[in-house]
Amino acid sequence: MNPSVSAPYTIQPVSLTTAQNGHYEIGSIDVSQLIQNHGSPLYVMDEQTIRANCRAYTDPLKQFYPNHLVVFAAKACMTVGLLNILGEEGLGVDVVSAGELYTALKSNLPVPNILFHGNNKSLEELEMALRQSIRIVVDNEQELDNIVMLTEKLGLRARIMLRTKPEIEAHTHDYIKTGQIDSKFGIERAALMPLVRKVKDNPKIHILGLHSHIGSQIFDIEPYVDLAAIMAEHTLRLSAELGRPVEELNLGGGIGIKYTHSDDPPLISDVITAMTQRLVQEFESRQLRLPKLIMEPGRSIVGNAGVTLYTVGAIKDIPGVKTYLFVDGGMSDNIRPMLYQAEYTYDIATKATQPGTKSYAVAGKFCESGDVLTHSVTLPEAEVGDVVIVFDTGAYNYAMSSNYNRAPRPAMVVVKNGQSRVWVERETLDDLIRNDRY
Ligand code: LLP
Repeated sequence: MNPSVSAPYTIQPVSLTTAQNGHYEIGSIDVSQLIQNHGSPLYVMDEQTIRANCRAYTDPLKQFYPNHLVVFAAKACMTVGLLNILGEEGLGVDVVSAGELYTALKSNLPVPNILFHGNNKSLEELEMALRQSIRIVVDNEQELDNIVMLTEKLGLRARIMLRTKPEIEAHTHDYIKTGQIDSKFGIERAALMPLVRKVKDNPKIHILGLHSHIGSQIFDIEPYVDLAAIMAEHTLRLSAELGRPVEELNLGGGIGIKYTHSDDPPLISDVITAMTQRLVQEFESRQLRLPKLIMEPGRSIVGNAGVTLYTVGAIKDIPGVKTYLFVDGGMSDNIRPMLYQAEYTYDIATKATQPGTKSYAVAGKFCESGDVLTHSVTLPEAEVGDVVIVFDTGAYNYAMSSNYNRAPRPAMVVVKNGQSRVWVERETLDDLIRNDRY
C-alpha cells in the first residue's frame, strides 16, 4: 500500500498501528519486541514513510518540473543504509563535511548526485570533493580563491554553484533562519557578480548555477514563491554575465513538518506546485531555457519516519507539584527541546489504547536540570517498564546526538513488513574509550 503522496504530513509513521495487546506496532512489529531485540533507548525508522516522503517530492516534480534533482540534506540524518534507500527513490544527497562526504561515498548513491555545502570547507575537504568531481556550493570569496588555487595545483576542474542570499526573512526559530542579509551563509546580492567575473573565464572553473536556502521548519508557501522569483532574476543576471544559459538552480530545503497537533505545515505538493509555476513563468516570459531545479529537503524526508522508544526507569511524584517520568535517554539523543524549545508528541507505546489521564514531565537521565524532554504532557497512567514513544524524531536527533555523560548512542533500526534491520549499531562502552590514550 502506498499512502497518497499529496496527503498531509502525519505526526506518526504511516505504518503505525495498534495491536490487540494495546501496544503500538511500527512496520508490523510490536514496540516491546523492538526493544527486546535491539535494546533501549532505540531510534526506529519506518521505511514505508521514508519512501512516501521521497515521492511527496518526486511525484509532483515529475509532473510540474521534469528536469529536477532532489538531494537529501544529510545533516538531518545520515547512515549508509538510509542513503541506499534514498538512492533507490532517485534522490541524491547534500553533504557538509568530510565525514558526510565519506559516508555518501560509501553508499550506493551515484557520485554525480552528491553536492557539497558548508561555509568554511577546509582545503582537505575541497580536495576530497574536487577529486571526485563533486558539485561544490561555494559560500564565500575565500572559498572560491581556495578552489581556484586547488584546481591549479591538482590539475582538476571544479563544478561549482554559488550560494546566494535571497535576503528573505522566513518565520522560524532564529537559529534555523538562513536567508536573511546578516546570515553567515552565502553571498550578498551586491557581491555576486564581482565573484562571477573573477572566475568566469577560468577554464578550470565551471559555474553550474546558483543555490539558495531560506531556512528550516517553514510553514508558509509564500517565501518559496518569492524565492523562486528572486532566484530566477539572479539566474538571468548570471546568464547574461556568462553569455550562456545557466544549467542549474538550487532552491534549498526547509519545508516544515508536523511535530504536534497545533503545527500546520503546507502540503509538500502545494509548495512545489506554487514554486515551480512561478519559476516557469519567470523563465518563459523571458524566453529562457529552464535550468535543472535542485531541491534539498532534510527534515521532511525523515522526520515522521523516525520515533524514539525509551523505557521508564522510575517515576518521581512531587506531591502538588509535578510527576516526573524518568526515561533511559534524554538530551544526548535529543538535544532539540533544550536547544530550540522543540515540542514533540508523546505517548505510552505499551498503553496505546488507554486514554491520557495524568500530567507528566518526561525527563532524561543526564546530570543537568535542563534535561527534560517535555515539562507537561498528558499520558495514560504510566508504570516502570512502560515504553515511552516520541514521534517525529527522524530528523536532527541522531544527527545531533552526543556522548554526554559518556552515554553510548542508541542503535537505529529500520522496520518494514515485520522485519527490523540495524542501520546503526548501539555504541558499546568500549566505543566510548576507543580514542582515550593512557
Ligand atoms: N539546505 C541547506 C543549505 C541547509 O542548511 C539545510 C538545513 C537544508 C537544506 C535542509 O533543511 P530542512 O529541509 O531539513 O529544514 N538542527 C536544526 C535544523 C538546522 C537546519 C540546518 N540546515 C533543527 O534541529 O531544527
